[in-house]
This record gives sequence, structure tokens and C-alpha cells, in this order.
Amino acid sequence: MAKLFNPYLMGKRLYSGTSGKLLGRKYVLTKYFRGEPKASDFKIVEEQIPELKEGEILTEAEYLSVDPYMRAYMIGYKLPTDMIGGQVAKIIASRNKDFPVGKYVVGAFGWRTHTVCSPKVPPSLGFLPTILLPNIEPHPLSLGLGILGMPGNTAYFGLKEICKPEPGETIAITGAAGAVGSHVGQIGKILGCKVIGFAGSDDKCEYLKKELGFDHAFNYKTANIRQALKEGAPQRIDCYFDNVGGEISSTIMNHMNKNGRVAVCGSISSYNDEKLPKVSILQPAIVFKELKVEGFLVNRWFNRWHEGINFNLKLLNEGKLKYQEKVYHGFDNMVDALVGMLRGENTGKAVVKVK
Ligand SMILES: NC(=O)c1ccc[n+]([C@@H]2O[C@H](COP(=O)([O-])OP(=O)(O)OC[C@H]3O[C@@H](n4cnc5c(N)ncnc54)[C@H](OP(=O)(O)O)[C@@H]3O)[C@@H](O)[C@H]2O)c1
Repeated sequence: MAKLFNPYLMGKRLYSGTSGKLLGRKYVLTKYFRGEPKASDFKIVEEQIPELKEGEILTEAEYLSVDPYMRAYMIGYKLPTDMIGGQVAKIIASRNKDFPVGKYVVGAFGWRTHTVCSPKVPPSLGFLPTILLPNIEPHPLSLGLGILGMPGNTAYFGLKEICKPEPGETIAITGAAGAVGSHVGQIGKILGCKVIGFAGSDDKCEYLKKELGFDHAFNYKTANIRQALKEGAPQRIDCYFDNVGGEISSTIMNHMNKNGRVAVCGSISSYNDEKLPKVSILQPAIVFKELKVEGFLVNRWFNRWHEGINFNLKLLNEGKLKYQEKVYHGFDNMVDALVGMLRGENTGKAVVKVK
């Protein structure tokens, strides 16, 4: 039994480190991003994995997540700092009976191959505590970072708790073909709403309409947004799930019905910008239409986390929820994956398969 708990013995079998000790690799951010993230903003360093204390586990990353918040949040950390991020990881050594060897966890461990942590202690770099990944077979483990993880819960709680859509209402979604947006639209359809999406290519729009059942989808790079709203939502918008911010959001909010609800989820249209863009004034629309505009962070619902996962897993198993993933490969390609996602290479969730 003692063998099972010794990470160095586990490491020798699973990983060839120097002097027989387990070595992990991690990304350290050494320069604040300016514009798009660059490989030269990081260095990859090796780290010796410490021996486990009582209550701790050692994990090996299988999938790492790349998410828009990574571009937005790093300015808040003092450099140099370990890069933040979620991962699905396998427990390869354990001194915690609730987290046995062989199970998988979802943890905010950052961009690193190996992690020692005490699942009870909130992570120093992240926002969400470590959880055991429920059994999601036959679905891929990577869904723990997507529709059965943080983005899936963002869609579920953000739509249900903030937009509170009623059957027959019209929902507009920006960033509609991404991890959160494509999921919001599908839940909206299941709830009996009309769903209008905005995404960055004609192919993405075709996918939203043909595969996911969106009523209308418009390429925001080529469409006249006002015209698109007139055509797609002549009865105007009741709920707006805002993933992008900027001028398109002002245009949509000016096209809303009285007592409309806006879930402000993110503002990816400006994450790479040096200066915050100016957009058309929103207060008249908010006042005269008596809109409710609410920003949220999904960790608000951490005490209901499994409710969201179970809801989404049920829909998935019933064939009512579809997904796509953009899978990048290799720990050394994290920056390419992050930049690719920010540029819109992904439909659905962008993840990196570590090996
Ligand atoms: N509040 C929370 O707790 C929470 C949790 C998760 C995510 N979020 C936010 O939700 C939003 C979506 O996140 P996600 O994880 O689902 O990412 P995602 O949509 O899967 O990926 C990002 C997408 O953003 C789009 N994009 C890039 N630049 C853009 C621009 N200038 N204007 C409009 N769209 C642009 C790209 O798609 P196109 O090809 O369509 O441009 C890209 O695929 C982000 O704003 C994120 O910060 C918030």
C-alpha cells in the first residue's frame, strides 16, 4: 500500500525524470501580453514534484483548456507567475481516500503536466476547487473542460438564472459558435425559444442553423447587424447572452423588448486591445426599455456545480445536446492553441491533448 502512495515510485514508472525523481513541466508567464499572446511571453520550466503529504494527490494532465479569460486575467498577476487554466488530469498517486489512483479530476492547476494538490484547499491560481470528474463514459474526458464543465455550466446557469427565458421568447447570442454560445443556443431551443446567433464565419453560421437548430445565424464580420436583427428578430429580442461586448452588443441591446434581460458573460471583442474601445451609449435603451443587465462569474454557482453537469449530461445522453471540439496536440503547443482560439479557429470548445 505504501508503494501506491509514493509519488516517486509512481513517477519512475510513468515519467522519466532526472535522478529517479519525478519532473514536471509548466508554463511561467514572464511578460504581460500585448496584443495577441506570444510564445516569448512565457518560459517553460521543469519542476521537481514534491513528496505527497497526507490528504494530497499527484495528477498527470491529459487535457488542458484554453479559454478567453486567460487573455483577460493575467494582467492581475505579479510576474513571473505560473499560467492559469483548467485541466482534466489522472490521479497517479494519492494520499486521499476520496481521490483514489486511476480516477480523473478537473482542476484549476494551470498549464503544467503534473500537479500535487490537496483537493480540499482552493487552488492558489484558479477560481474553482478541484472536483472528481463524474463517470461520463462513453463520452471523451475532454468534455470535463467543455459542455460537462465550466463552459457548460456558464451556459446553463447564465441562461437559466440571469436571462430566465420563457417559451416563445427570442434569445440573441454573440460568440454563438463557441463553447458557451453554442451551448446556450441549444438550451434556448430546448426551452422553446427562438434563437438568433452571431458568429465569425459563414461555415459556423451554417453549423448553428443546420446542426444545432438555431433559427437564424449571421456572420458578424460581413452582416449589417441592424438589418440582420430586423430580418432575424422582427419581434425584437427578449434575452441577450453577451459573450463579446463592443458595438454589436450596443446594437443588439437597442433592439430589445421592454423588460429584456441581458446576461453579460464576457467581452472577447476587446481582450487583445491595448485600449478599451468606445461604443454607442447604452443607458437610454436600458432606461426606456427597463432592461435588466447583469454581469456574472460562473463560480457564483459552485455550490450547484453538479446540478449543471447532470443537466447537461442528461441532454447529451438523450441526444439533445451536440458539441464540437477543436483539439490541439502537445504541451509545447499551448500558446498556438490559445491564440488559435482567440482568432476563432474553434467551433465549440478548444482543448489541448497533452500527449
Ligand atoms: N462569466 C463567466 O463566468 C464566463 C465563463 C466562461 C466564458 N466566459 C466568456 O464567454 C465568452 C465565450 O467564451 P468561450 O469559452 O465559449 O470561448 P469560445 O467562444 O469558444 O472561443 C472564443 C471565440 O470568440 C470569438 N471571437 C474572437 N474575437 C472576437 C471578436 N473580436 N468579436 C467577436 N467574437 C470574437 C471567436 O469566434 P468567432 O469566429 O465567432 O469570432 C472565438 O472562437 C468569452 O467572452 C469568455 O470570456 C465567461
